[in-house]
Amino acid sequence: MRHLIDPMDLTVKEIDELLELADDIIENKEKYAKVCDGKKLATLFFEPSTRTRLSFEAAMMELGGNVLGFSSSDSSSSAKGESVSDTVKVVSCYADIIAMRHPKEGAPFLASLKSDSPIINAGDGGHNHPTQTLTDLLTIHREKGRLDNITIGFCGDLKFGRTVHSLVKALSRYENVNYIMISPVELEIPQYLKEEVFEKEGMTYQQVRTIDEVIDQLDILYMTRVQKERFFNEADYVRLKDTYILDMPKLKNAKEDLSILHPLPRVNEIAVEVDDDPRACYFRQALYGKYVRMALIMKMLGIAKPE
Ligand code: CP
Repeated sequence: MRHLIDPMDLTVKEIDELLELADDIIENKEKYAKVCDGKKLATLFFEPSTRTRLSFEAAMMELGGNVLGFSSSDSSSSAKGESVSDTVKVVSCYADIIAMRHPKEGAPFLASLKSDSPIINAGDGGHNHPTQTLTDLLTIHREKGRLDNITIGFCGDLKFGRTVHSLVKALSRYENVNYIMISPVELEIPQYLKEEVFEKEGMTYQQVRTIDEVIDQLDILYMTRVQKERFFNEADYVRLKDTYILDMPKLKNAKEDLSILHPLPRVNEIAVEVDDDPRACYFRQALYGKYVRMALIMKMLGIAKPE
């Protein structure tokens, strides 16, 4: 039984296969409408979510399967003190596959040690978010036609932003990816990623403080929200939350084929006026999240592509 805890649990070949399957699902939705007939997905969300939980649930429904679960720890027996391990051990009696989000880093990994069904990490604290990474890779591939030979700027909260951590790791296996990390000094990418990914893999990256100084170089701009829920100190959050606001004047020197991604939710970091620019990909990205999760559910349940 395979679990998906970290984006590096998938080989490049497996990622290619998932993106290819997601593309086929997008083109031939009706072909997939019953492939998960009789299967159940449980969504165990101990932390808030809109996209990840609902796209997982929509994905399973569009495959003909059923869904069960909870959307906050308050509405599960976790509120009575039940451990994550016990919760998962029990839920794996009811569901064929489990998507789990938890505020504690490593909780889905611990769950995977006890579960009798495959576990998908749907976000663990400030650590990883592998299915957002699949969403991002599908978006980049569909927008750019490639995952290599790109210059990508990551902007905002690179310290706590798990989507950034996971995507940086996943992209480290593709050729000629140039990383530009745009953040205040307090929100730089964690040291472990600098050492274990960038430096270990001999990858080129630069750290800058403003969007303006690099916008003309970027093929992709990956904006992120400052992660209020991970701060220990409200005053630090208030000081840093509006460091970057992408608006139309900021895009003046951007490439015509720039792709602007954001895992969402957005708070204030992209002005609403940018939504109408064809370079804004973030709502398409949210849609692609459903299709790539359909592909992932099929692969993890061992369901073959229908003829
Ligand atoms: N991108 C993402 O994880 O969004 P949600 O928190 O709404 O699931």
